[in-house]
Amino acid sequence: MSQAEDHDGTRRDFLYYATAGAGVVATGAAVWPLINQMNPSADVQALSSILVDVSSIEVGTQITVKWRGKPVFLRRRSAEEIEDARSVDPASLPDNDARNANITAGSDGADENRTLDEAGEWLVMMGVCTHLGCVPLNDAGDYVGPGGIGGWFCPCHGSHYDTAGRIRKGPAPENLPVPTAAFFDDTTIQLG
Ligand code: FES
Repeated sequence: MSQAEDHDGTRRDFLYYATAGAGVVATGAAVWPLINQMNPSADVQALSSILVDVSSIEVGTQITVKWRGKPVFLRRRSAEEIEDARSVDPASLPDNDARNANITAGSDGADENRTLDEAGEWLVMMGVCTHLGCVPLNDAGDYVGPGGIGGWFCPCHGSHYDTAGRIRKGPAPENLPVPTAAFFDDTTIQLG
């Protein structure tokens, strides 16, 4: 190879690499805004996870909070409500699925698979009827569980849920879903 040919080769290589390098830079510049757009904005991030102070909820009562635009029921169940829910054979449920985002998918609908704590005092679930999305009322239907206690009733088309939020009667196809939730500390529950 003559010196002139070698020089040409070096120039060609340089031009090739310079062009390829510019291409990579250009691609990087085009992709970054796209990735950046995919990150949730600060206000969305703030809403994706919230802390709820549950210290003032009396036994046998509940509060409703809005999370990600939907109502969430946080109930502190009485001993009777727990007993009522736990006396049910999961196999007899219309929807024998825990519908609980915090445990293994496909777990059965036993009350123990629905509550936040082992004792079953805390029940957290979406307050959205699984039929057509109305907000069920607490303890207002004519369904009563084995212990004589009602749970939630959706008057839109008559769906009855028991004290574990499981569908027992009416057109709703599924139990009220339990969202991602955990105790943040003794008196605070984190949603999301
Ligand atoms: S929306 Fe609840 S029963 Fe139809």
